[in-house]
Amino acid sequence: MSLSLSAEQPDEPADADDGVWLECIECGETFAPFDDVRYTCDECDGLLEVRYAELPTFDDFEGHGVWRYADALPFAEGVSIQEGATPLYEVPRLEESIGVETLRIKHEGMNPTGSFKDRGMTVGVRVAKELGVGRLACASTGNTSAALAAYGSRGGMETLVLLPAGKVAAGKIAQASLHGARILEVDGNFDACLDIVQELAAKGEAYLLNSLNPFRLEGQKTIGLEILEGFLADYDAVPDRIVLPVGNAGNTSALYKAFRELVQAGELDEDDVPKLTGVQAEGAAPMVEAIENGADEVRRWDDVETRATAIRIGNPVNAPKALPGIRETGGTAVAVSDEEITEAQRDIAGEGIGVEPASAASIAGLRKLRAEGVVDDDERVACLTTGHLLKDPDAAAAAGSEPEPVPADTAGVLASIASERSSE
Ligand code: F0G
Repeated sequence: MSLSLSAEQPDEPADADDGVWLECIECGETFAPFDDVRYTCDECDGLLEVRYAELPTFDDFEGHGVWRYADALPFAEGVSIQEGATPLYEVPRLEESIGVETLRIKHEGMNPTGSFKDRGMTVGVRVAKELGVGRLACASTGNTSAALAAYGSRGGMETLVLLPAGKVAAGKIAQASLHGARILEVDGNFDACLDIVQELAAKGEAYLLNSLNPFRLEGQKTIGLEILEGFLADYDAVPDRIVLPVGNAGNTSALYKAFRELVQAGELDEDDVPKLTGVQAEGAAPMVEAIENGADEVRRWDDVETRATAIRIGNPVNAPKALPGIRETGGTAVAVSDEEITEAQRDIAGEGIGVEPASAASIAGLRKLRAEGVVDDDERVACLTTGHLLKDPDAAAAAGSEPEPVPADTAGVLASIASERSSE
C-alpha cells in the first residue's frame, strides 16, 4: 500500500517531469504533473499524490518560511507573500493545567492572511501559472477563500470563491472581498459548495484550489517539517504527538505525507513518527466516527453544525489519505463540544495567543484525551492552531468579556473600576 509508513520509495516513471509526478493512491496509476489539469485519477477517480524521484534530508533545507523546504516541493519558488516560519509558542500554564510533559502551540494564524492556507496557496498558485490556467476557484468555509483571493491577486489572476451563505466568519469574507475575489454565496453548506466547484472545474471553468488539489498539500507539508525542526532544535527529539483540528483532513494528510517522506529518506525512524491526532466538533465529526468504528470509509454527514464554522464540514474529501495517517502513526480522533471549544479559546487567549474557534478545537481535544488517559503525562505534544482570532471577531467577542459603558470623567471611571466586573 503506497500510504503505509514503511512504503518503499517508488521508481521514477517515464511520465515524470524533472523527477516529479502524480500517483493515484488507490490504483497506482502515474501521470505527468503539469501537462494537463487533473485533480483525481483518470482511471479510478482516486486521490492523487505528488511523488519525487529524490527526497531531501534536513540538511537540504535552507532559507526561511515555506520555500526553505523547496527540495520537498515541486518548484524552487512560488507566488509568495512570505508565508510559513510561524511561531512554536511555549504555553507553560496550559501545559501544566492539561498535564503533559511539553506543550507547544504551532500558531498558523501568524501567516500572511491569518491561516495555514497560505502555505498551500503559495505552491498551488505557482502550479496554476505552470499550467497556464486563467481563473482560480475554491469552495470555502472562509480561510481558503481569503488565501486564494490574496495569492491569486498577488499572482495577477482572477479568483472565484463559493461560500456557504451566512456561515462564514466576518474577517474571512472581508479578506476575500478586499483582495478582489468574486464571492458567490451558496444557499447550502460547504460540502454543497465543493460539489459545485468540482463540477465547474471538471467543465474547465476554473482551476480548483481546494485541498483535493494535491499540490496544495505539498505546501502544507511544511507545517510538519517546521514543527519537527523546532522540536529537534529545542529537545533533540521530535514530538510524540501532533494534535490538529480536522475539516477536510487536508492537514492531516499533508503532515502524514511529510513524515512518510522523511522516513523514506532515512531521516526519521518509523517508530518516532508523531501520533497524528485529529479533533472535530461534535456537530461535524465524520472522521471521528470512522476512526471510532474502525471504518475504511467516512460516512458523509448531511447536516453539520458548530460554532467553529471553519470545520463545519460533513464530507472530508481527503479522508482516504488521512485515515491511514491517523492509524499508521498510532494516533486517534476525538470530538469536542462547542462549549469545550470556547473554553479552550479562552484558555489559550490567557497565554496571549488569539485563535479562532476551529483552532481552539485542538487544545480542547488534547485536554479531553489527556483527561481520558489516552494521552500520557510524559508526552511531548504540539497543538496546531490553524487560524487567527481576528478571523472571527464575533466569536471572539462572544467568548470574551463585555465592554462596560462609563461616564466621561475620572470619578466615574474610578467608581466603575472599584465595582465588580459586570461580566466575564
Ligand atoms: N482550521 C481552520 C481555521 C480552517 O479554516 C480549516 C479548514 C481547518 C482547520 C480544517 O483543515 O481541512 O485541512 O482538515 N478550512 C477550509 C476553508 C475548509 O475553506 O477555509 P483541514
